[in-house]
Amino acid sequence: MRILVTGGNGQVGWELQRTLACLGEVVAPGRAGLDMSQPETLRAAVRALRPRLIVNAAAYTAVDRAESERDLAYAVNAEAPRVLAEVAAELGATLVHYSTDYVFDGAGEAPFTEEAPVNPLNVYGASKAAGEAAIRAACDRHLIFRTSWVYGRRGANFLLTMQRLLRERPELKIVDDQIGAPTWARSIAEATALIMAQIESPARGADRPAPWGTYHLTQQGATSWFGFAEAIRAALIAQGEAANALARLTAIPSSEYPTPAPRPLNSRLANAKLARVFGLQLPDWRVALGQALDGS
Ligand SMILES: NC(=O)c1ccc[n+]([C@@H]2O[C@H](COP(=O)([O-])OP(=O)(O)OC[C@H]3O[C@@H](n4cnc5c(N)ncnc54)[C@H](OP(=O)(O)O)[C@@H]3O)[C@@H](O)[C@H]2O)c1
Repeated sequence: MRILVTGGNGQVGWELQRTLACLGEVVAPGRAGLDMSQPETLRAAVRALRPRLIVNAAAYTAVDRAESERDLAYAVNAEAPRVLAEVAAELGATLVHYSTDYVFDGAGEAPFTEEAPVNPLNVYGASKAAGEAAIRAACDRHLIFRTSWVYGRRGANFLLTMQRLLRERPELKIVDDQIGAPTWARSIAEATALIMAQIESPARGADRPAPWGTYHLTQQGATSWFGFAEAIRAALIAQGEAANALARLTAIPSSEYPTPAPRPLNSRLANAKLARVFGLQLPDWRVALGQALDGS
């Protein structure tokens, strides 16, 4: 099976190149080989590749910059997924796509289910919600995995930024009223491979249609950005760094850390559907963080 992974240099895309290799031949052109902001070039390139599985890990993920780069955010997060879905439908291929907790407005304290109405607070979230809708309209054979607070050992993410700032600064003020599940890019990529293996398995039988649709896919448990930062600090100390050489952490409300793009306060996503349909549950966020920091 030929598998096209877009965004192969991103956090999730990089891990996918490894976890999907046991399912087939992975083709992962970088931005130079496949520019997601050019819909017609993208359409022609995917048609020529004829993949049986398209995994779209490319995205415009600069949440604050998206407020002033709306067109580019929509081109990559809404228009490109629409094109991928159209070509997938044409080829009879499957499309796997990733979306975000930021499609929700973060009201209340209960975890959002897949059926909860979207109501994004910022341009990035709106562009991702538009991408989801475009995929549902164009291609039945799709899986949309909404995840949250993604980090890994490479790329731009909270873990790497915190590790650097903890060593550089005497004090860090971190938001304590946004609650979500930090999710390791490798956990997302592993779950994607396991789910695709289930769907592609000959044991499934042609009479059992695959459970296409939208799923929430996050690490179990929840914390605030402050809680995440505390866990990163504790891990550095456990690895031998001196506590007094690391920044002190102070909890602040979002109102004291204004950003161009407002963020939802409640980013909890309910993962029960993933467990019910695929029998999968990602480990607790603290377990995944420990594994990510082990370097294993
Ligand atoms: N990061 C998070 O906290 C988070 C949270 C919830 C959901 N998600 C979703 O999870 C998925 C994976 O995110 P991630 O964290 O792995 O993102 P990431 O590390 O920012 O990677 C995104 C990838 O998309 C590529 N890309 C962006 N614009 C492109 C363009 N015009 N043409 C071709 N490639 C382009 C980037 O290429 P370059 O390497 O060349 O820049 C990069 O490889 C995305 O759908 C994202 O929306 C992420």
